[in-house]
Amino acid sequence: MDINLPLNLVRVTEAAAIRSFRYMGLGDKNAADQAAVDAMHLIFNGLDMDGTVVIGEGEIDEAPMLYIGEKLGTGREGSVKLDIAVDPVEGTNLVAKGQNNAISVIAAAPKGCLLNAPDMYMEKIACGPEGVGSIHLDLPIEENIRRIAKIKNKEISETIVMVQDRARHKDLVEKIRNYGSRVKLFNDGDVNSSISTCFKRSGVDLFVGIGGAPEGVISAAAIKSLGGLFQGRLKPRNDEEISRCKTMGINDINKLLSLDDLVKGNEALFAATGITDGEFLNGVVQYPNNTVKTHSIMLRAETGTIRFVEALHKLDNKPQLSPRNSNWRK
Ligand code: FBP
Repeated sequence: MDINLPLNLVRVTEAAAIRSFRYMGLGDKNAADQAAVDAMHLIFNGLDMDGTVVIGEGEIDEAPMLYIGEKLGTGREGSVKLDIAVDPVEGTNLVAKGQNNAISVIAAAPKGCLLNAPDMYMEKIACGPEGVGSIHLDLPIEENIRRIAKIKNKEISETIVMVQDRARHKDLVEKIRNYGSRVKLFNDGDVNSSISTCFKRSGVDLFVGIGGAPEGVISAAAIKSLGGLFQGRLKPRNDEEISRCKTMGINDINKLLSLDDLVKGNEALFAATGITDGEFLNGVVQYPNNTVKTHSIMLRAETGTIRFVEALHKLDNKPQLSPRNSNWRK
């Protein structure tokens, strides 16, 4: 795999974050998303690669760009064949409301290595490297907390579990609190939140709950690179979702999906850029003179290298990203 590819993927997430940030706080989540989609599409298609979107904005009839099956990159002879998973804005509501934790994110892996996850819910659990071999999705939450506390030499009352703030998690949250652990609720953005378990400075010990399946695959690519644990199980809600799983080649719907089921092999790549400030990435910062600063992370599973990239972009020199450019789609 081309070792410069992760940096090129960062260029894509930077562009998406810069454009989407223009809509930060304007209350229009669709515009924030569309701006990021346009930017990703533009930059991707200048890259020498032969990519296929396996997780994207939807099926071809519902998304004109970054739809599942779309080819990305120049496709020049000899270029690497990749599965690409994109979430141009993970946390569209967060951007619209000007709230923390929105990122632009991509996972990539050699063709055939990313699970083509249907757009439905997935039950998930994630933690940092310490929990590998001990934490398991099928254990009661109390037992997982007890185990992670023991491994990390923490009192139960010192542990923190991250859960998305949704009515479906009411019982789960109650169980965690009754057991004596603490809950950090987040509004949106479970890629960001699950990955934060692998960064000690977040203070988060476990991530649990039900969120999007596509986001699960993207999180898994990052967590594989970070040496942590991620497990999932699809949660179709009706017959239509069950048949969608089957169409996508997933016959055993109840199967526990390990990191290797979600992301095969060890060549996955992950890139993300903060749109608003988050658990491990700061957001886009507007400087004077049409200049912005971005904060990104790039990960390679093969080597486990973690790179944080801070970049200053003089947008007068990048008219395709500059909101001052009148051709820019508003
Ligand atoms: P969007 O960026 O598409 O709005 O998704 C945000 C998100 O919070 C995901 O991180 C999460 O997996 C999913 O929504 C949860 O879905 P729901 O809002 O239906 O609970």
